[in-house]
Amino acid sequence: NHYAIIMAGGIGSRFWPISRSSHPKQFIDILGTGQTLIQNTYERFLKVCPKENIYVVTNESYTKLVKSQLPDMSDQQILTEPAMRNTAPCVAYGCFKIESLNPDAVIVVAPSDQQILDEDAFISAIERALQTAASHDCLITLGIKPSRPDTGYGYIQYTDHTINHDFHKVKTFTEKPTLEIAKTFIQSGDFLWNAGIFIWSAGAILKAFGQYLPEMHEIFADARPVYNTADERTHIHKAYQHCINISIDYGIMEKADNVYILPSDFGWSDLGTWASIYDLAEKDYVGNAVIPSEKVIMYDSSNCMVNVPGEKLVILQGMHDFIVVESNNTLLICPRDQEQNVKQVVADVKNKF
Ligand code: GDD
Ligand code: MG
Repeated sequence: NHYAIIMAGGIGSRFWPISRSSHPKQFIDILGTGQTLIQNTYERFLKVCPKENIYVVTNESYTKLVKSQLPDMSDQQILTEPAMRNTAPCVAYGCFKIESLNPDAVIVVAPSDQQILDEDAFISAIERALQTAASHDCLITLGIKPSRPDTGYGYIQYTDHTINHDFHKVKTFTEKPTLEIAKTFIQSGDFLWNAGIFIWSAGAILKAFGQYLPEMHEIFADARPVYNTADERTHIHKAYQHCINISIDYGIMEKADNVYILPSDFGWSDLGTWASIYDLAEKDYVGNAVIPSEKVIMYDSSNCMVNVPGEKLVILQGMHDFIVVESNNTLLICPRDQEQNVKQVVADVKNKF
């Protein structure tokens, strides 16, 4: 009864210019491991459930990428969305479809673009969560000890009340707080980051949609007769026109009163920034991280992050603490501590070119 849904329809805009709307970061070998992030994610879930129970939900513009990177998946396992409506419709589509095949399904829903270092710890956490979700009417999330007041995450405060030993009842779930609030959360020491990985029974999540996003519930419940038929695609494409744009975090997790968190530690990283890639990447003795490594020559340069795929010969002379990234005819050179300004650059570039 174990199923997995991989969410792979986001655009990963912070990794510009490597990650672009035409080729987002989940489809890139951003860490230089020889596999893309979605391939890593898929392989992790092969250890948790049978391969025919793994689904990917993605935008129709990425269907080809998914098929070529995950050739073992059948067409029925790749759910395509005609529009980007954030993660709530993505979760609804996946969970309603799986429920129509198996009402007793227990499902793990996960992003396609994260890095997990301790795979054994990850798998054992997921297995315990699936087991707990099978026997309790609850929505489970995994919690990570925070290290900085990052405003890109959900923050969770939990109580001492537990089920199945260490699944704690959640007191508050705050998605993407302001910096000021994130700072007070970190100072209080009571909060965990939401890893964005959710575990629930089909029954529990469908009930939550009914309660908190009733229109969306209706849209995907109405599609029940067409799941796994030739009409699924056309029907779903029409249905998306009526879906609001909202994430599962804002739409359900902040509101539900049966959320439980499993504090976890499995070397999790959301790979949100070049700095996070640099932290994880293999570095030479002067701190240079080069992906891929062939055609880059450095003289008197240290602590640089270089990602220039392809045939071009790259030479760095006297560069310290820089990011050098090339993709799609765009070259970005930027001091490592100024990458947060890149967002503005991207906006300007989009207006001008
Ligand atoms: N199919 C589909 N459709 N997938 C989507 C869509 C969509 O419209 N939008 C985003 N995704 C995918 C992304 O590709 C990613 O794998 C995953 O869903 C999560 O979306 P993000 O856009 O990366 O979310 P986030 O990072 O801002 O926030 C979430 O993750 C954080 C941890 O990384 C939240 O769950 C936070 O609470 C959490 O802390
Ligand atoms: Mg993310």
